[in-house]
Amino acid sequence: MPLRGRDLISIRDLSREEIEEALAAAKKMVPYAEGAKVMHPLTDKIVAMAFFEPSTRTRLSFESAVQRLGGSCITIADASVTSMRKGESLHDTIRMLSSYADAIVIRHPNEGAARLAARASDRPVLNAGDGAGQHPTQTLLDLATMQEAFGTLSGLKVVLLGDLKFGRTVHSLAHALAVFGCEIVLTSPPELALPVPARRHLEGMGARVSEQADLRRAIHDADVLYVTRIQKERFGDEAEYRRVAGSYRIDPSVLEGAKPRLAVLHPLPRAGEIAPEVDRTPHAVYFRQSFLAVPVRMALLDMILGSGKRGG
Ligand code: CP
Repeated sequence: MPLRGRDLISIRDLSREEIEEALAAAKKMVPYAEGAKVMHPLTDKIVAMAFFEPSTRTRLSFESAVQRLGGSCITIADASVTSMRKGESLHDTIRMLSSYADAIVIRHPNEGAARLAARASDRPVLNAGDGAGQHPTQTLLDLATMQEAFGTLSGLKVVLLGDLKFGRTVHSLAHALAVFGCEIVLTSPPELALPVPARRHLEGMGARVSEQADLRRAIHDADVLYVTRIQKERFGDEAEYRRVAGSYRIDPSVLEGAKPRLAVLHPLPRAGEIAPEVDRTPHAVYFRQSFLAVPVRMALLDMILGSGKRGG
């Protein structure tokens, strides 16, 4: 089914073919995202950014994507300056926004908020992160980064490191890795292990999933190391956070036994999990990953709001 007019709330909303189509479109969008080529399929479109939780990359790359495509944005970057401070519900806020814009991009601290927003809106809603739930557009740019590095996704061995309990990027990405037949290795402090239902979901898809507590062993034959930040803001108890804070850190010595082509990804922001010295190694692709957010989101917006057949 074409993406035109559809919501994107969970990566599970997309078939393998749709993911492949989005990645192919994103690849063609790279020169447009760089400003080397120009096209404006969204000239008459307005996209609302409804961000109720902090963001740098997701909001600004979506705004860049809209503007590169000739559209315009209306933006809530801080819920505290909206009428939600006066008690307006999320439902009413989104319903109203859907009469001001052609699509809505939402980030919210509560899991399920994006689904609720999609029900309140008669315009397409894109989930830009809902609590510890999903971050499907991040997954597409993570896949685009891996595909660019290796030319394929099939059969890659991917280590997911860090906060696998609260990390919405890994919840989305793990499903997509299973779709593409990747081998998944889970490495986390025990308190931050992937929730059992998520692991069962992957196993139910036939994915090869294992746990490896020893980071060096996990990465020695891996193709991708996907590092995540411990999601401090999701902990109910500061003491619980302090128990796990700083429990892993990637520096050049950790990478010594890795494959020369190991690609280190991170959705960013980082908060000490990757030493700055790693930035100068050939393993570091996380800044390329954050750039690819723009062509991936351009491709998605064009597929959802435009013809979806542009680029090249
Ligand atoms: N990767 C990501 O979601 O970054 P931001 O929180 O800065 O949007």
